[in-house]
Amino acid sequence: MKHLLGIEELGREGIERILDRAESFEGVASRDIQKVPALRGRLIVNLFYEASTRTTSSFELAAKRLSADVISVRSSGSSVEKGESLKDTIATLDAYEPAAIVVRHPRAGAAHLVSKWTRASVINAGDGAHAHPTQALLDVHTLRGRIGALDGRNIWIVGDISHSRVARSTAKAFSLMGARVTLAGPPTLLPPGIGVALGCEEATTLAKIGDADIVYALRMQHERMTGGDIPSLAEYSTHYAVTEARLRPDQLVMHPGPVNRGVEIGGDVVDSGRSLIAQQVAAGVAVRMAVLYELLAGAEKDGRMREVTAA
Ligand code: NCD
Repeated sequence: MKHLLGIEELGREGIERILDRAESFEGVASRDIQKVPALRGRLIVNLFYEASTRTTSSFELAAKRLSADVISVRSSGSSVEKGESLKDTIATLDAYEPAAIVVRHPRAGAAHLVSKWTRASVINAGDGAHAHPTQALLDVHTLRGRIGALDGRNIWIVGDISHSRVARSTAKAFSLMGARVTLAGPPTLLPPGIGVALGCEEATTLAKIGDADIVYALRMQHERMTGGDIPSLAEYSTHYAVTEARLRPDQLVMHPGPVNRGVEIGGDVVDSGRSLIAQQVAAGVAVRMAVLYELLAGAEKDGRMREVTAA
């Protein structure tokens, strides 16, 4: 596999292979030297056209733990601000001969375009409301670590489904792993046909949220809203916020971050023992190490087989 643009490319077998490897990378953080030499001498470029804390820092850390060289380019402060196009930016970065380009962009399809313009492997770190495959992988990894196999589990993904690339990728991944997924939110934030398209149930109220084993809250994506999607944040919260009052004691809660406390999720839920949010962040590093390893280790480059030392 050369690129990772969408979770569906992996299928259940691919997801399991990557997450098994992620598990083996988990111990690297607790070593005296927090590194393995797998990608020594290879260059990874992080190219982020949208805000990010978790994704960019965990990709950077993942690359460093695999002993790769990393450069991180953000659109603000780069020549993108001087009008350089995505294509020309990729041509510039490609000249450094990176092994991989990790790209986040506000437009759906951007990562696919980048993969046509570079010789590097491309990893989609979020393209508009379309896909975020590494988030889906780390979400499955977090849940597997906590509850084991996802087969037959009930998972509700709640909130701004419409603008969420996380909802699209994570719902697909949970379904591929055998879970029963329900997409829940106000009708204005549930695009028509999305349940059928993703093989999920739909709910427009939280009346049956008690059916869920896991509740996955989504951030309200203000930056992608064009107005009129919801009457007000206060009204949204009244009906759809994931709060302690709405949950059974044994239900687990996830959120991709960044969290808007008091909007889509109660602060008390974020800070409770049922929250897996910190585990999701921690999983990001080992999972992204495993993705980089999957795409780059042992791959043929310039006709030469690179010698790679496994973890
Ligand atoms: C998500 C994203 O950017 O798609 N964040 C993340 O990667 N952890 C979700 C979000 O911004 O709401």
